[in-house]
Amino acid sequence: MSEQTFTLDKQPSGGQHEVLLDARDVEVHFPIRRGVIFDKTVGYVYAVDGMTLQIHKGETYGLVGESGCGKSTFGRALLRLEEPTNGTVTFDGTDLATLRGDALRRKRQDMQMVFQDPLSSLDPRQTVESLLLEGMHAHGLTKDKEAAGARLRELLSAVGLPAAALRKYPHEFSGGQRQRIGIARALSVDPQLIVADEPVSALDVSVQAQVINLLEDVQEQFGLTYLVIAHDLAVVRHISDRVGVMYLGSLVEEADSDELYKTPLHPYTRALMSAVPIPDPLVEDRREQILLAGDLPSPANPPSGCRFHTRCPWRQEERCDTERPQLRVVQIDGVPTSHRVACHYAEQIQSGQIQRHEVTATAVDPAALEDLPDVNLQEGGGQPFSTQ
Ligand SMILES: Nc1ncnc2c1ncn2[C@@H]1O[C@H](COP(=O)(O)OP(=O)(O)OP(=O)(O)O)[C@@H](O)[C@H]1O
Ligand code: SF4
Ligand SMILES: [Mg+2]
Repeated sequence: MSEQTFTLDKQPSGGQHEVLLDARDVEVHFPIRRGVIFDKTVGYVYAVDGMTLQIHKGETYGLVGESGCGKSTFGRALLRLEEPTNGTVTFDGTDLATLRGDALRRKRQDMQMVFQDPLSSLDPRQTVESLLLEGMHAHGLTKDKEAAGARLRELLSAVGLPAAALRKYPHEFSGGQRQRIGIARALSVDPQLIVADEPVSALDVSVQAQVINLLEDVQEQFGLTYLVIAHDLAVVRHISDRVGVMYLGSLVEEADSDELYKTPLHPYTRALMSAVPIPDPLVEDRREQILLAGDLPSPANPPSGCRFHTRCPWRQEERCDTERPQLRVVQIDGVPTSHRVACHYAEQIQSGQIQRHEVTATAVDPAALEDLPDVNLQEGGGQPFSTQ
């Protein structure tokens, strides 16, 4: 076989703790413009507002949070599909901000995205063959025609589609099959990292598990690293090694997946987990129920101090309203240092020293909401937060 032949049997590097992607203090602020003649900037949407996280080679990092908290914008900023306002993204040792033109294009080959709605991300006028060849062609992977043909067949087989699919168009497939094509397209350029943005939320529940299993299979086969974005805690739990919980533009908690589900420490995470039904009726009766008051505040006008203080049942006067908590290791017996929480009072809440109190929902300023562009709908996002 020629050099153009691709290896489909790459194994994960085994370097579980080798950092592949390192995002530091990433911010993406979208200007809000007003006026036809004097196109004035009247404010900013603080979509991503201080995200720091590392993704290790071969792992799956799950990112969860309510609709509008900035998950997709962060995913896009990692791939530099969105220019960060501040912060750095280092991929495989290279600061992406230092790359331009061809160098950035080559690096992008290593980072691919799988979208929520494959139909809107697949050109309806192109056959599956031309969709898959497009990326390979752009990255110079089609010079050897025979190898490229073999690659196409291998890709289809890896995602469980017959070779005959190559001649068909996206509309001829079901939602699950289209997502398989989306995954094959991402794999076609032999990436290291895949950012999967709500990869199964547009699919029927019966098909979701198949696509999740497929993502896991190809991860092992191709030695991939994943960032899986979802509003569904169950999806993230199933697939992730580590999970980060995002609230209004930044992480509030991060831990190994099992640890986070066993011991959620941040009040926001506790509230999310408290909504997950537990199949054991005895446990179900005893479990903590925390109803979140009010909606997610507008990212155009985020609360001061701890962003969660307007909805937090453990909020403490002054400090919570004025000082923004950093993601930190907590001093709680049995909680590992890999479990980090952005709450001033995580220890006291866990020990019961600080008790819950009633929260009165604060109305979100409608004027601030008017400023928000309707991008979620365009991208097929905007689902309510789901825990099942
Ligand atoms: N291009 C843009 N210009 C202005 N505002 C934007 C743009 N893209 C996103 N936003 C705003 O940034 C905020 C975060 O949006 P984002 O799509 O990243 O959230 P999300 O967590 O992915 O939500 P969902 O779960 O609904 O997909 C939202 O308020 C959104 O309206
Ligand atoms: S810092 Fe204060 S407001 Fe924020 S989560 Fe902790 S207790 Fe609640
Ligand atoms: Mg989104």
